[in-house]
Amino acid sequence: MQNAQPQDGHSHGHGHGHGHGHGDADHTDPAFWEAMAERLETEAELRASLYGQAVDWLAGVLGEERAAASGTRVVDVGSGPGVVATMFAERFSGAEVVAADQASGLLERAQARADRLGLGRRVSTLAVDLPDDFAKLGTADLIWTSHAVHHIGDQQEALNALAARIAPGGVLAVAERGLPERYLPRDFGIGRPGLQARIDAAWEDAFAGMREEIPGSVRTVEDWPAMLARAGLAPSGTRTFLLDVPAPLGPVARGYVRSQLEHIRERAGDLLDPEDITTLDALLDEESEEGIRLRPDAFLLSATTVHTARAAA
Ligand SMILES: C[S@@+](CC[C@H](N)C(=O)[O-])C[C@H]1O[C@@H](n2cnc3c(N)ncnc32)[C@H](O)[C@@H]1O
Repeated sequence: MQNAQPQDGHSHGHGHGHGHGHGDADHTDPAFWEAMAERLETEAELRASLYGQAVDWLAGVLGEERAAASGTRVVDVGSGPGVVATMFAERFSGAEVVAADQASGLLERAQARADRLGLGRRVSTLAVDLPDDFAKLGTADLIWTSHAVHHIGDQQEALNALAARIAPGGVLAVAERGLPERYLPRDFGIGRPGLQARIDAAWEDAFAGMREEIPGSVRTVEDWPAMLARAGLAPSGTRTFLLDVPAPLGPVARGYVRSQLEHIRERAGDLLDPEDITTLDALLDEESEEGIRLRPDAFLLSATTVHTARAAA
């Protein structure tokens, strides 16, 4: 089981489409993430409405006045290609925003994106290799970290280190988990009903295996508000944001669902029974009316949870 490699449905649920897993997929290697640059960017763009709601909520949690102030500093830790970092720069109208990541190719994308959007003056990038480089992050009014803490061996230590970077009265916002994504009806007419529930189970095993393989991996009760409190912050609210793209899907969302199914097929094949593999093959058939490319009933539902906590003023 532990040699399968489903994506991290950045996973966002198992939705955040990254390569969680083993074997040839070494997600501790920046090259692994750089190879996924385009996919990460498209995926984050697809989630823009979800992230937009989260960013808007966080402006209120931090305080609108502080969010708009020119002295405010926002750091996106594990920013990937900077889609959310640029959203912060847009919504936090005077703030300096730093996209921090280990993958220089992704940071180049983040800077190019900010420049394209006319935000280059307030957006910069920072190469960090965590957990070694937490101090390099400097002090921030808001730290946003989305689907990155679970890539660090000791998640509590990571939160402790991030909490230490928060300015008085500032906020740490951690986006982790949510719900597994859904793309199809329970019974979509091929194979045994409930395919996605069985994929979820496989995913959890692969996710656990991914965690175990990280150097310095520590098993933690993933009660994020309690972990934030242990890091010395006062929990200030948890919310879950929904991406709801109904059927029939347009080309971008359809392409995303297709690539998720492809990854599951390639990487979780040995976690699923042969009938489910046959079903996945039928879904991936480009020519078939039953395939994901043509079928009218495919949709995209994705939920991401954001936990916040505040430093003492
Ligand atoms: C799953 S992606 C999340 C990207 C983005 N935050 C999002 O939610 O769409 C994880 C990101 O964390 C970065 N990352 C993973 N481990 C890291 C580490 N040890 N130090 C710095 N960045 C890391 C990867 O390069 C990648 O860009």
